[in-house]
Amino acid sequence: QKLLHFDQVESTQEIGHQLASQGKPHGTVVIADAQGKGRGRMARNWHSPKGKGIWMSILLRPDLPPMRAPQLTLLAATVLAKMVRENTNLHPQIKWPNDLLIDHKKVSGILTEMQAEHDQIQYVVLGIGMNVNQQLNEIPQDIRHKASSLKIESGQEWDIQQTIQSILRLFENTYDSYVERGFEQVKKEWEYFGYRIGEEVTISTMRRKWQATLIGIEPDGALRARDKEGNEEKLYSAEIQWG
Ligand code: BTN
Repeated sequence: QKLLHFDQVESTQEIGHQLASQGKPHGTVVIADAQGKGRGRMARNWHSPKGKGIWMSILLRPDLPPMRAPQLTLLAATVLAKMVRENTNLHPQIKWPNDLLIDHKKVSGILTEMQAEHDQIQYVVLGIGMNVNQQLNEIPQDIRHKASSLKIESGQEWDIQQTIQSILRLFENTYDSYVERGFEQVKKEWEYFGYRIGEEVTISTMRRKWQATLIGIEPDGALRARDKEGNEEKLYSAEIQWG
């Protein structure tokens, strides 16, 4: 059985790591109805109320060097965007590196954790959190201006199991073609959905804040941007703002 379903866990990421160390195979999926300690990027927490969203982690054992792991995150983001595109008239966008936005609000996030050794990936636990059936008053107040759900954006209730199935089906297809043919197609799709690509934004890092035009992503997952003087730069970690 490759699909494990729990009512309630602390975090499907933790279970993913446990299963990996027990030697469970590539493609094992952990799903929970609710998480008590859902984890987001940058040590943030991820609100995961019962039955309201997709809280899942996918165990991958790719035959790749660690430097290609960011490509898997970008790949997962394109899968989520394609799922929304296939099932609605909405226009999902991906905010670099991997937030899925609808109408400028975040509905989904991805957390990729990797174990590597001898310049080879041992395994990756790829966590997907997707807000599905929350109503506006079920989104925590402090993030309500910037977070949303599929239901809020589409105006209808979603079948969570079916949505999981369509994500997994698309993930499998996209992953297989990535393994066979490489990153080029994923890069194209990512840039198609890419938020503010070709537009001027404000970029901030720990050290500085400046205006730039977003150009696209690099094979290593970096974001390429061009400043007012025409200098191009690759970014590995930054906040993007607009307006
Ligand atoms: C982000 O910060 O945008 C990433 C959020 C990732 C949340 C998912 S929910 C399933 C998996 N288990 C976790 O604890 N986190 C990820």
